Amino acid sequence: MASDPREHDLVLFGATGFTGGLTAEYLARHAPPDARWALAGRSLGKLEAVRERLARISPAAAGIPLLVGDVTDRASMEAIARCTRVVISTVGPYITFGEPLVAACAAAGTDYGDLTGEPEFVDRMFVAHDGRAQESGARIVHCCGFDSIPHDLGAQFTVQQLPEGVPLTVQGFVRAEATISGGTYQSVITGLGRARQLVAAQRERARREPAPDPVRHVGALRNRPHREPVIENAWAVPLPTIDPSVILRSARAQPRYGPDFRYAHNAWVKRLPVAVAAGAGLSGMLLLAQLPPTRKLLHRAIAAGTGPSPQRREKSTFRVRFLGEGGGRRVVCEVSGGDPGYDETAKMLAETGLCLAFDQTPSTAGQVTTAQALGPALRDRLVRAGMRFDVLEDAAA
Ligand SMILES: NC(=O)c1ccc[n+]([C@@H]2O[C@H](COP(=O)([O-])OP(=O)(O)OC[C@H]3O[C@@H](n4cnc5c(N)ncnc54)[C@H](OP(=O)(O)O)[C@@H]3O)[C@@H](O)[C@H]2O)c1
Repeated sequence: MASDPREHDLVLFGATGFTGGLTAEYLARHAPPDARWALAGRSLGKLEAVRERLARISPAAAGIPLLVGDVTDRASMEAIARCTRVVISTVGPYITFGEPLVAACAAAGTDYGDLTGEPEFVDRMFVAHDGRAQESGARIVHCCGFDSIPHDLGAQFTVQQLPEGVPLTVQGFVRAEATISGGTYQSVITGLGRARQLVAAQRERARREPAPDPVRHVGALRNRPHREPVIENAWAVPLPTIDPSVILRSARAQPRYGPDFRYAHNAWVKRLPVAVAAGAGLSGMLLLAQLPPTRKLLHRAIAAGTGPSPQRREKSTFRVRFLGEGGGRRVVCEVSGGDPGYDETAKMLAETGLCLAFDQTPSTAGQVTTAQALGPALRDRLVRAGMRFDVLEDAAA
């Protein structure tokens, strides 16, 4: 490490925000004592206040370096990317604020992780920066929070319980009891107002991506709402988040997922009327988000920088159950933990940063998923940090 020309192993960008603050606290408690990590944000005063808070958790944190950078100042993003081996960022909405840092990391050969769950951003970053990152050796790892680590690593864990070299199907069922932060809300409203741009970004990505492997097939499993025995006869309702596309990318990149891999992603809903009401609410927001005046009103409803209290987070939990089938076997696996959106997300992002910086991992570059770039090394870290990956059933089909 002493001969490493870069000053830092890991920089946390966005340390002054709600999730950034929790991620900073996690690092203050859990980063190895010899890790050279730093906090970054756009306001030195706010960064100093965060550092004072961290020093009350761990006195060593009083000496953490502070780096000032604003996404509107390209040189500051380049300076951050050049001074560290890894950057993790909580500065969102990513479609609004994310690109300058991704561009700087791709150019500087710096590994990058973020918390986006915004498909348009991920597709745009692939089109604009994957090639440069492949040349420089940078690993650009999006979706390192609840979107999509439990799903991506959970599907990989399920595949690893099944025979090799045979067609496999995996179904995921997500149950989360939690509330969201202002930053997440702002990202959702921003995304809802960009349906046309999302389709354009998906098309552009599809044009640039290499042709699919003619031998292996990877795709979606046909799906519709149904009662599902694997989740105690609750309702499984198709859930169009970014997670299934991340899982399918991991499957395309890794032959271990078999010659024909199919995946379906569902919400795990105890009462169907709740899912219908949630769907109706989201459709209403989608409509309102299309017009600038009503979108403005929606943006005002929950302010950025706010989030659920420690007491509320304490009561929050998540479970993602997976049914995997193939080669004459049937397995049921589960990933579970505490507050999905913030406490566990801060843990997942911080451990992703530490894993990128310090662990033996497969040789990859460009835009990569967590399962592809980090896989079992990151899973082991998360298990040591209290998240659970369990095999609930393993039987002949
Ligand atoms: N995928 C998941 O599971 C998951 C979970 C949690 C959060 N998230 C995502 O993470 C993001 C952050 O959420 P949050 O609730 O933590 O938001 P937040 O509290 O609003 O924090 C946003 C951060 O961005 C910084 N920022 C804003 N404009 C900037 C600029 N021009 N230059 C540099 N920094 C700038 C803010 O700095 P100031 O403090 O100076 O304003 C703040 O540190 C959101 O996109 C959210 O959707 C995802």
